[in-house]
Amino acid sequence: MVQVKNICCIGAGYVGGPTCAVIAYKCPHIKVNIVDVNPDRIAAWNSDKLPIYEPGLEEVVFDRRGKNLFFTTEVEAAVNEADLIFVSVNTPTKKNGMGAGFAADLAYVESATRGIASIAKSSKIVVEKSTVPCRTAESMRTILEANSTGDIRFDILSNPEFLAEGTAIKDLLNPDRVLIGALQTPEDRKAQEALVEVYANWVSTDRIITTNLWSSELSKLAANALLAQRISSINALSAICEATGAYVDEVAYACGCDKRIGPSFLKASVGFGGSCFQKDILNLVYLSEQLNLPEVAAYWKQVVDMNEYQKKRFVERIIKTLFHTITNKRIALFGFAFKKDTGDTRESAAITLCKHFIQEQATVHIYDPKVSDEQIFLELTEPGLLDNTEEVKKRVIITRSPYDASQDADAIVIATDWDEFKKLDYTRIYQTMHKPAFIFDGRLILDADKLQQIGFSVHTIGRPAI
Ligand code: UDX
Ligand code: UDX
Ligand code: ADP
Repeated sequence: MVQVKNICCIGAGYVGGPTCAVIAYKCPHIKVNIVDVNPDRIAAWNSDKLPIYEPGLEEVVFDRRGKNLFFTTEVEAAVNEADLIFVSVNTPTKKNGMGAGFAADLAYVESATRGIASIAKSSKIVVEKSTVPCRTAESMRTILEANSTGDIRFDILSNPEFLAEGTAIKDLLNPDRVLIGALQTPEDRKAQEALVEVYANWVSTDRIITTNLWSSELSKLAANALLAQRISSINALSAICEATGAYVDEVAYACGCDKRIGPSFLKASVGFGGSCFQKDILNLVYLSEQLNLPEVAAYWKQVVDMNEYQKKRFVERIIKTLFHTITNKRIALFGFAFKKDTGDTRESAAITLCKHFIQEQATVHIYDPKVSDEQIFLELTEPGLLDNTEEVKKRVIITRSPYDASQDADAIVIATDWDEFKKLDYTRIYQTMHKPAFIFDGRLILDADKLQQIGFSVHTIGRPAI
C-alpha cells in the first residue's frame, strides 16, 4: 500500500486551509504544503493574523507551522514532492455562458488539474476536495492522462468536505463521517486505502466511509441540499406562524423531538447564506436539467426560491411595520456575516437586506464583530448593471459597536446570530433610539418579552408581533 508522507493542498481558502492544517496537526509524520496563487493570502497564512477567522484555527496553525505545515506560492516544488494532492480551489456559480446562474464554474479546478499534469514527475493521488458537480473527477482524470508523460499514474479520489464555518476545527477534529470515493479498480482502491490511513490517525475507521466515486460526489451536493431544504421548510412554516399566532420555535421543537425528524437545522431565520447551500442546490438543479429530469430540478429549485422569498418577506414586514416607508429612516443592522463565529459574508442574508434598505433610501448603520469595513463595501457595491458606489457610501455607515449603530435609530434589525447580541444592554439602547423603537429579530435569538417590557415593539421571525 502507498504510504502518504507528503501532502500538497492546492487552494488556501476556507476549506483547504483548515482541513490541511488539521491533517498536519494530527499527522506529525506527514509534511503538508498548502499552496495558493494568491501571494497575499499565503503571506497572511504565514503571519500572526490568519486570513480567515475560525475558532481554534490559530492554535492548530501556530502549533504546526514551520514544522510539518507550510504555506507557500511555490506550487511546482510542492506538487512535485507530494504523494497526494488535494484540489481545494474555489468553484463559484458560473456568471456567464451556458448554465450561468446555476452550473459551477470549473475553470479553477481545470487550471489546477492542468497545473498538476504539467508539473508532476512521479505518480500522484489526486483528491477532489472542492464541491464539484457529479462526474468532475472523470474530467480531471482525462486532463491528467492526456497531459502526463512517461509512466506516471494518477489515481483520482473524491473526498468532499463537510465542515461548517464557525465550527470548522471542531468538525475536522471530530467528524460525523469522512467520505472517500474512488473508482473500483484495484489501483484506485489502493489509493483510497492510502487516504483512509491518513484520516485513521484520528478518526475511528467506522466513521470513514468508502464509496464509489460518483456516490461520493453526489453525497456532498445531496447533504447540503437536504440541510438547506430543512431550513426552507421551517422558514415556509414561519410565514404561517406569523399569520396565525403559532410560534415557529415551539413548532420546530415539537417536530424535532420526533427521532425521525431530529432537532438540527430547524431554526427559522431570515434566510440561509454561505458559500455552499445555494451554490450546491443550483448545481443539483442544473445536473437534473442536464439529465432531463425537470420535475427533480423544480423540486430542488424551490428550496432556493423559498430562501429568496424569506428575505423579501422580512424586508416587507420591516417596511410595513415602519408605517410603510423607511425613506431617510435610520436602521441599525446587527450582523453582516452569514452566520455567527465567522467573518465570511458570502451569500449572507444581510447583503440582500441592506440592498433593499438602500433602494428604499434608508440609512443603514452596520455593526458586525468580525467582518471588515472593506468586505462590507465590497459586497454592497459588487459590480452589477448599475454602479451604486456613491449611493452605498452615502447611505451605509459602519460602526464599531452596536450602541453606536443604534443611536438615534428607528429600528434594529438582527441579521446574524452572534451570541453577543443576546447580552447587550437593551435598556440603554432603547433610551437612545427614536420612538416608537422597533426591533426585528431575524434570528430568533432575543427575549421578546423582556424587550417588550423595556418598551420595544418586537417583531420576531416566525412569531406574531408583540
Ligand atoms: C405517519 C407518521 O409516521 C405518523 O407519525 C403519523 O401519526 C401518521 O402518519 P404512517 O402513515 O402510519 O405514519 O406510516 P409511516 O411509517 O410514516 O409511513 C408512511 C409511508 O411512507 C409509507 O407508505 C412508507 O412505506 C413510506 N416511507 C416511510 C418511505 O417510503 N420511506 C421512508 O423512509 C419512510
Ligand atoms: C454548510 C454545511 O453545514 C457543511 O456541512 C458544508 O460542508 C458547507 O455548507 P456552512 O455554510 O459553513 O456549512 O454553515 P451552516 O451552519 O450549514 O449554515 C448555513 C446557513 O444556514 C447560515 O446562514 C445559517 O445561519 C443558516 N441556518 C443554519 C439557519 O438559518 N437555520 C438553521 O437551523 C441552521
Ligand atoms: P473555499 O471556500 O472553497 O475554500 P476559497 O475561495 O476560500 O474557497 O479558496 C479557494 C482558494 O483557491 C483561493 O485562495 C484561490 O486563490 C485558490 N486558487 C484558485 N485556483 C488556484 C490554482 N490554480 N492554484 C492555486 N490556488 C488556486
